Amino acid sequence: MAKHLDGKVAIVTGGGRGIGRGIALELGRQGAKVIVNDLGATVEGQSSDDSPAQEVVNQIRAEGGTAEANYADVADHQQAEDLVRQALTTYQGLDILINVAGILRERMIFNMTEEEWDAVIRVHLKGTYNTTHFASIHWRTERKGGYRLINFSSTAGINGSPGQPNYAAAKAGLIGFTKSCANALARYGVTANAIAPGAATRMTDRGLRNRDDMRQGIAESENVEGSERDPENVAPGVVFLCTDAAENISGRTVGISGYRITLYSDMVPEREIYGSQRWEVDDLVERLPETVFHGLVPPSGDRPMGGGA
Ligand SMILES: NC(=O)c1ccc[n+]([C@@H]2O[C@H](COP(=O)([O-])OP(=O)(O)OC[C@H]3O[C@@H](n4cnc5c(N)ncnc54)[C@H](O)[C@@H]3O)[C@@H](O)[C@H]2O)c1
Repeated sequence: MAKHLDGKVAIVTGGGRGIGRGIALELGRQGAKVIVNDLGATVEGQSSDDSPAQEVVNQIRAEGGTAEANYADVADHQQAEDLVRQALTTYQGLDILINVAGILRERMIFNMTEEEWDAVIRVHLKGTYNTTHFASIHWRTERKGGYRLINFSSTAGINGSPGQPNYAAAKAGLIGFTKSCANALARYGVTANAIAPGAATRMTDRGLRNRDDMRQGIAESENVEGSERDPENVAPGVVFLCTDAAENISGRTVGISGYRITLYSDMVPEREIYGSQRWEVDDLVERLPETVFHGLVPPSGDRPMGGGA
């Protein structure tokens, strides 16, 4: 079978487990040389363990591919620079950067501590900025083109998961960040897209903690291999975005969940009124409810808390 990414060099952050692992394996199968980054952290971002990244590297090599492990904390600026440098020195290039690494600290806004807020913003937003910053320096210098940046967002950011204000903010922020990079880096031959994935992993297990099977200690993610919820199902759509066939796709958010691939619309103005001078509040009280805001209803308050990803 044809390999779509022969000769390409890729970094996958958070590539040791879950969705990132599947992506790293598929990149390897498609001929890319892969740096598999993973801190080996808990879902909440604590501790570190080299084995997840190393095991994925071992599997890529066992399948005949080429890979090296990296154990950096992507949210550490210096370590992120070293990660990009590792690709450049080991494989003499960097064509694809896929920022998958992520953590959760679920809490309602009124209970959320500063530390819980900062930890999630740090890994998702700063981590993605860090790696992208150093990759973009290389892309701007080399100007070979065909570069791919893929960042991991979430429906939690698109829909506003109530129990995850930090995570929802980070994931919505990543859509803006991705669009900014798409606009800024187009001239250097970079496409940038965001993914809103869905798959059963240890992250989504957290949202199911009250379900009967979870109470009995059976995690959904441990029983999904080969099913639609298998995290490896996200990989083909992501790898497609890395191929030449996706050269005209940039600045977009793509949902990849199970066997479904979704293009999200861009946020566009929906309705507006336009005056000829500064509005009087009296006029707006009279006119806006019948025009721009006609028929709107507020959130019901019965949305699931969103304990997963
Ligand atoms: N699983 C879903 O349904 C789902 C839904 C929406 C979004 N997401 C997003 O997809 C991505 C992957 O999630 P997953 O479900 O595979 O979770 P996961 O916990 O299985 O994998 C995340 C990986 O990131 C690594 N990581 C965490 N912090 C890191 C850091 N600072 N530096 C380097 N590596 C770090 C972890 O060690 C872990 O291996 C995340 O960004 C997540 O927010 C997942």
